[in-house]
Amino acid sequence: MTDPSELARWNTRFGGDEYHFGITPSGFVAAQAHLLRPGTTALCIADGEGRNSVWLSQHGLRVTAFDFSPVGVAKARRLATRMGVQVDHLEANVNDWDWGARQFDLVAAIFVQIMTPPERSRLFAGMARTLSPGGILLLQGYTPKQLDYGTGGPKQIEQFYTEALLREAFASLEILHLSEHEEMIEEGDAHCGMSALIDLVARKPKN
Ligand SMILES: C[S@@+](CC[C@H](N)C(=O)[O-])C[C@H]1O[C@@H](n2cnc3c(N)ncnc32)[C@H](O)[C@@H]1O
Repeated sequence: MTDPSELARWNTRFGGDEYHFGITPSGFVAAQAHLLRPGTTALCIADGEGRNSVWLSQHGLRVTAFDFSPVGVAKARRLATRMGVQVDHLEANVNDWDWGARQFDLVAAIFVQIMTPPERSRLFAGMARTLSPGGILLLQGYTPKQLDYGTGGPKQIEQFYTEALLREAFASLEILHLSEHEEMIEEGDAHCGMSALIDLVARKPKN
């Protein structure tokens, strides 16, 4: 179910013409270009103003993306038009998404630290289920140390990720890369400054 105050918060935040997370992809997503195969399918979860979905489409993927904010989705559609690419941008709540099995060759969840732990468990199980065999998961978020930096991200401690949490949640996948690190990022005005990040690249086994 959609929390009306959360939805209103994001709609307000996305109001106006500026792209709060920028119009270029997350540095982590851009660094995974070598894993992309043109013509394959991708799903971007809680895609916001579209920076990651548009970039994946520019790299030849057939991209579906969703976010619960109609204001964010409208901006994502405008960004796709501006960049001359096609993305299936949908308005949907992550808690209502139908995680059909084996539907996408790539799933991207970038800074999707918006849920309670039970909701997150369902989300992570759904993401693993909806990956095709051999499909790639790209996930980036903040670790609890981000509370010291305060340069973006959630405020509730239970919404942060740790290596142990991600390893357990995605035990059915082959972990290709998992690291906690601290670095300066400049991704729009929303994610700007020294940040405590965690990156995960994982692959669904073929059998
Ligand atoms: C930190 S932003 C990240 C946006 C995007 N992934 C990016 O990296 O640019 C979090 C996004 O989650 C979306 N969101 C929050 N709760 C949601 C929900 N229940 N269902 C779908 N999207 C949601 C917000 O609208 C916002 O776009």
